[in-house]
Amino acid sequence: MCGIVGYVGSQPALDVVIDGLSRLEYRGYDSAGTAVSADGKLTVTKRAGKLANLREALAGADHSDTGRSGIGHTRWATHGPPNDRNAHPHTDCTGAVAVVHNGIIENFAALRLELEGRGHELSSDTDTEAVAHLLEEEVAKGASLADAMRRVCLRLEGAFTLVAVYSGEPDLVVGARRNSPLVVGVGAGENFLASDVAAFIAHTRDAIELGQDQVVELRRSGVTVTGFDGKPADVKEYHVDWDVSAAEKGGHDYFMLKEIAEQPRAVAETLLGRIGADGRLSLDEMRLTDDELRDIDKIIIVACGTAYHAGLIAKYAIEHWTQLPCEVELASEFRYRDPILTRSTLVIAISQSGETMDTLMAVRHAREQRASVLGICNVNGSTIPRECDGVLYTHAGPEIAVASTKAFLTQLIAVYLIALYLAQVRGTKWGDEVFAMIQLLGTMPQKVEQVLETVEPVRDLARSLAGERCVLFLGRHVGFPVALEGALKLKELAYMHAEGFAAGELKHGPIALIEQDLPVVVIVPSRARPVLHDKIVSNIQEIRARGARTIVIAEEGDEAVAPYADTLIRVPAVPTLLQPLVATVPLQVFACELATARGHDVDQPRNLAKSVTVE
Ligand code: G6P
Repeated sequence: MCGIVGYVGSQPALDVVIDGLSRLEYRGYDSAGTAVSADGKLTVTKRAGKLANLREALAGADHSDTGRSGIGHTRWATHGPPNDRNAHPHTDCTGAVAVVHNGIIENFAALRLELEGRGHELSSDTDTEAVAHLLEEEVAKGASLADAMRRVCLRLEGAFTLVAVYSGEPDLVVGARRNSPLVVGVGAGENFLASDVAAFIAHTRDAIELGQDQVVELRRSGVTVTGFDGKPADVKEYHVDWDVSAAEKGGHDYFMLKEIAEQPRAVAETLLGRIGADGRLSLDEMRLTDDELRDIDKIIIVACGTAYHAGLIAKYAIEHWTQLPCEVELASEFRYRDPILTRSTLVIAISQSGETMDTLMAVRHAREQRASVLGICNVNGSTIPRECDGVLYTHAGPEIAVASTKAFLTQLIAVYLIALYLAQVRGTKWGDEVFAMIQLLGTMPQKVEQVLETVEPVRDLARSLAGERCVLFLGRHVGFPVALEGALKLKELAYMHAEGFAAGELKHGPIALIEQDLPVVVIVPSRARPVLHDKIVSNIQEIRARGARTIVIAEEGDEAVAPYADTLIRVPAVPTLLQPLVATVPLQVFACELATARGHDVDQPRNLAKSVTVE
């Protein structure tokens, strides 16, 4: 949430910064701005709205393209409405210091009062601007920008990534990080700072992870990292294993469409290399020992948004395969309810970005209570996996569209793998049973591909429903979280009232919502569980009798539902627990197409951000 870029090198800084911001717009798009340092002065340009507005302003303005160092920001508003005035960068009274920020400075009100008391004039409603004026005071006392940043950071409370430039040191960009992401890109004669490697991947794949409470000085000649206390810090270098093409649309109109299409490959990549030479499941990167896993007596899953829905599905697989009790909790609620955690509790944190603040805080709380914490994350080297005891990476590749698709499917693969691994080490399933299930998982890329090949009628259906006000989703068992996910997708992309219900719960209230021609999507469980299947067939009849227009997602060969379906969407027959892998895909396509038909930008839905780094 909020994307930040910094650059020092030999290329025109403005071009590099704008290009970087274009790859970070998924983090927020309420406003965008840049500050470029040239000829002993800073040129700051900022505009409310998407990056396109800033580009337009820069195209018409008399700005210097000679600057070889600069910073940029794309905003997801927290303090102050999204207008030009509150757009970053923010400057001090003299215009010599410019700063961009991601996060929330919790003591900003006190700092602001203090600064105003000393005669500073603050011109925005943001928490960030205080930092520019605090830096101004320090450089006025003769401090270098890096020293000023270190001193100022010690005065700040909350979560922040800050990146600043100062006209007095034109070939320098200084960054600082606490509880908010910032990575360094190391080039030849040029260096980069960004919230995410996507911003500089076109220039370099060599990166440095910054730790907590560190300040980085970026020059053409190199990078220096210290703690807030000024002591040199150890840094971890790594190589990014994907290239710029992975962060581009590849011929699709939207990243979301590309990411939906990439799902078979993403699922296959996440499964890759999980079977050892002995035919047993092996999760090397997990870091928790088999002995530790044998001692577990309870699992709690924490996550937000789509990742939370993956957690809800995980519960069914974990309890069924491992016999361990499993709770699933919204990360934002977890630490406020005094969860009962012991040394034998395993907390699993699911997060695509690895940066979601609610999930990170839940991880920290769990570790403070001495529980073991395992992360399921997609972004290598992000904060959550770094703070967990173990990690299982999904290999979905970069997910740019705000609404999660391929990351969700790979999160499901990851939880199935963890559940089967636990079953293997704890002996709750025979080796051949685990192996058989892994083999079935291995067929999933092809099944997902099959769904994608037959999904055209779903697009037609979505377009025909573009004028509707509300869509309901029903499911049972693992189909219930799928219904929740289908509804979430429609809400976030089409701005439509959509709700997911457990089909059995419908008669306890929500059935009152059913009126003539109301579209209701029903996810029908596999016939392999007749009890579930037959019950939902009755539920479909109940809503149809009350006038609902039924859109039924059912496996191939399931003829029992056909008479009650106004529209029938077929998915391949797969074991009940794995059905979310195929049943979710038509719902992603449905929401994407319906939102597009309503004229919305599906990659950047209003009010949202992909990576929410504030609580
Ligand atoms: C935001 C995004 C959602 C996402 C959620 C969790 O709210 O808009 O699409 O599911 O964060 O993100 P994470 O990166 O933790 O999976």
